[in-house]
Amino acid sequence: MADISASEREAYDTVAYPTAIVSHMTPDRIRAAGLLHGWSAPDPSAASVLEIGCGDGLNIIGMAAVAPRARHVGFDLSEHAIARGRALVAAAGLTNVTLEVGDILDWARKGERFDYIVCHGVYAWVPEPVQRALLGLIGAALAPGGVAYVSYDALPAAAPKVEIQRFLVRRTAGIEGVEARVRAAVGILATLSRHQVEGSRLKPQLEVLARSLPSFDAAYFFHDWLADHYAPPSAAAFAAAAGAEGLKVAGDAGLTDLFTHDLDAEAAQLLGDGDDWGARSEALDFLRGAQMFRRTYLVRADAPPPPATGLKDLYFSFDGERDMSRHDETGEDRPRYSADLGTFLIPTAPAQAAVMQALWDARPGELSYAQIVTRTGDEAAADEVLRRVCTLGLVAAHATPPAYTLTPGERPIASPLARAMFATGSYAMTLRHARLVPKEPPTAAFLQLCDGTRDRAALAHEMSARLGASITPGQIGAALADISGRRVFLA
Ligand SMILES: C[S@@+](CC[C@H](N)C(=O)[O-])C[C@H]1O[C@@H](n2cnc3c(N)ncnc32)[C@H](O)[C@@H]1O
Repeated sequence: MADISASEREAYDTVAYPTAIVSHMTPDRIRAAGLLHGWSAPDPSAASVLEIGCGDGLNIIGMAAVAPRARHVGFDLSEHAIARGRALVAAAGLTNVTLEVGDILDWARKGERFDYIVCHGVYAWVPEPVQRALLGLIGAALAPGGVAYVSYDALPAAAPKVEIQRFLVRRTAGIEGVEARVRAAVGILATLSRHQVEGSRLKPQLEVLARSLPSFDAAYFFHDWLADHYAPPSAAAFAAAAGAEGLKVAGDAGLTDLFTHDLDAEAAQLLGDGDDWGARSEALDFLRGAQMFRRTYLVRADAPPPPATGLKDLYFSFDGERDMSRHDETGEDRPRYSADLGTFLIPTAPAQAAVMQALWDARPGELSYAQIVTRTGDEAAADEVLRRVCTLGLVAAHATPPAYTLTPGERPIASPLARAMFATGSYAMTLRHARLVPKEPPTAAFLQLCDGTRDRAALAHEMSARLGASITPGQIGAALADISGRRVFLA
């Protein structure tokens, strides 16, 4: 039998995929999102977690670093990627995560069940039998009450990308060497862009691509835009395929799907009764036309998670911007809170203003639900505001208490995972599953020294020797205060 996975194995062994750090796929964020969707996923701190197609495992390793009692398994086709991940696991001293070489078509751990199964950026980029086997594996391995997260490019928004991607693959097929192929493909894209006529249907996609190309890693571009297999499903087709494996869709990590206040009556009717999430998501994709990447939650049709228990166990943070200029005709200066996604809120109701002010004051820290209710004095109002700002994507909700401190102790301890990552690389992962790129180059070396054996005087002494300049314990204190805001010091 032909090896169906041969082309993916070769591609990912030859060109290392630059793993993106994705906080939405962590049990912490999935449980929090589930409570907003109306269901209660298992306790992340004691869960079993499987990542399918984990690449070098950076995401599952990050999950393991903050949940010592939870069990983590990741597998991937690429031996090279798994070897890199295992080296990081060893360097970070983690004993609760196992990385294995394995094929979705023939995974060895049959019969084992997991509370969380995550699979990011694989489904749309593998052949159809692998897509089916992936959902079959989730159907077989998801524990009752468990939740899976599968992300994929989705139709209809991905339709122009499909055609451009196939054209690039055909036109660069004979070119030897990854770099030369990527260069040729980028050149073709520039030529296409230059020649689009007025009213071109491809133009919007080419413009999005032209804007993002400078930030794309060549390896990322190769695996996404020159992949041998690229077949994004619609949300409804994905739901139907999952249904055939005993699974049903329970929502999307893009919580903006829950925000439908902007739809008129005819549009709302297209969404259906709310129970068929596949049909609902597809309708939203047609209504808005913008959502190309879906991050779908799946649960067992015969044993979904129990109903939600409210938001009371959650922690909230606001990591966006605040602008205090005049934003309306009242003549008063009002705060405007905005996030990366382009969403914003100018609080109108007092409860909105109180919740956002409280979160602003707490930055870079977080507030528990109870702390927010204390600040607003009204639980129902706080609940409603939190639901609104979370679905807007303005505020992040976490289901587990912070593992980090903003006030490092006498002998500061930076996360062992961050220290291990900085030993060989230029970025690390925070204790809230975000990418940490130091503002100042010496930060990486400094954090590696923060292993709990040195006080501020010892840190000053060592940093002075490294930098060839006199660093005082006071300056170390200031650096600690600054860097601790990046959520990297252990409590
Ligand atoms: C685009 S990368 C995504 C990697 C990682 N999940 C991430 O988000 O960074 C796709 C991954 O799927 C893996 N893959 C492809 N086909 C597979 C299969 N049949 N079994 C296991 N892994 C597979 C590749 O080796 C590659 O690491």
